[in-house]
Amino acid sequence: MKKRILITGGAGFIGSHVVKLFVEKYPDYLIVNLDALTYAGNLENLKEVEGAANYKFEKVDIQDAEALDSVFSNHQITDVIHLAAESHVDRSITDPLAFVKTNVIGTVNLLNAAKKAWNGELDQHLFYHVSTDEVYGSLHDGGFFIETTPYDPQSPYSASKAASDHFVRAYANTYKMRTVISNCSNNYGPNHFPEKLIPLCINNIKNMKPLPVYGKGENVRDWLFVKDHARAIDTVFHKGEPGETYNIGGFNEWKNIDIVRLLCKKMDEKLGREPGTSEQLITFVKDRAGHDLRYAIDATKIQKELGWEPSLQFEEGIDLTIDWYLENQDWLDHVTSGSYQDYYREHYES
Ligand code: NAD
Ligand code: TYD
Repeated sequence: MKKRILITGGAGFIGSHVVKLFVEKYPDYLIVNLDALTYAGNLENLKEVEGAANYKFEKVDIQDAEALDSVFSNHQITDVIHLAAESHVDRSITDPLAFVKTNVIGTVNLLNAAKKAWNGELDQHLFYHVSTDEVYGSLHDGGFFIETTPYDPQSPYSASKAASDHFVRAYANTYKMRTVISNCSNNYGPNHFPEKLIPLCINNIKNMKPLPVYGKGENVRDWLFVKDHARAIDTVFHKGEPGETYNIGGFNEWKNIDIVRLLCKKMDEKLGREPGTSEQLITFVKDRAGHDLRYAIDATKIQKELGWEPSLQFEEGIDLTIDWYLENQDWLDHVTSGSYQDYYREHYES
């Protein structure tokens, strides 16, 4: 059967790379990108595919259950890849309820819409939930997260993602829905909203603004290039075993302060600045409340069982990322000024 895939959150950072990969690689599939276009959704991320015959966009909020039903029936959706979410830990500390509404209630709405649309033939469709390694909590004594590590979310963001993972598994168990979940480490790359560490630092270094490092900068994150995550999602979608979970990561751990220093060094070189110029911008600030110390993924299962592995070394990925931001000043200007939010009105409503 020709697939008609609903990708939610396709205007966001990771979702836009997933949509582009699927639209370009699978011309026989219909790709329906459903996104509410919150501050994090940007249709400028999708310019390369917006005219493609196998691509459609629906501006819908996953909190709106009726609208979801219409999307499923209007497009005869056969499969879901669910990425729509509130994704920023700091925002979750300020407004946890927004994370419950989108990440928990929105996910249950989507599960219900799929269950209703696929009634009687649940075994022929797939609901794929894209999740985070943050559901496993914080590592303190070495070791890695594996697929069976008990959930121990520590922030409102990770609690909401853990809850949504649990609902997906509950629908698999209770209603026999075919589901798969992947939990990925921190992503970086083009189109990343400049509220997250790497794009924030690139933007601030460029503009000679302070680089806020939380606490002592000793926290460790495990970084993966966004296009490698999109390739992993393609692999899990097509080859993953229903009911299974796959951890995705590149065995690439860095202390925050070391990443910030690396960005400073590379950008001094690229911008022709004296060595050491950008490091002077580093400013240690108050730590994030409940800041998880370390995340580290063991990605052996997806590598061995599905044959996926990252294609890029970290320094190559960081070079590509910095170059992308330096070459796409318009994107950054539109995002920092907010004018990217006019794109929908200009291109879809006029
Ligand atoms: P993002 O914040 O860049 O994008 C989220 C997208 O979801 C945006 O386009 C936004 O408009 C949309 N959205 C938000 N609320 C919505 C709603 N109520 N209805 C419909 N659309 C809505 O996030 P991202 O970094 O691209 O993350 C995508 C997914 O991957 C999330 O589920 C996140 O938890 C997961 N994830 C992210 C990372 C990471 O490092 N960024 C790592 C692992 C997993
Ligand atoms: P972030 O990019 O927000 O991702 P996450 O919290 O999901 O891991 O943050 C990555 C790390 O960088 C995290 O340890 C918090 C830290 N951080 C800073 O030190 N300064 C900043 O301005 C930001 C946004 C994050």
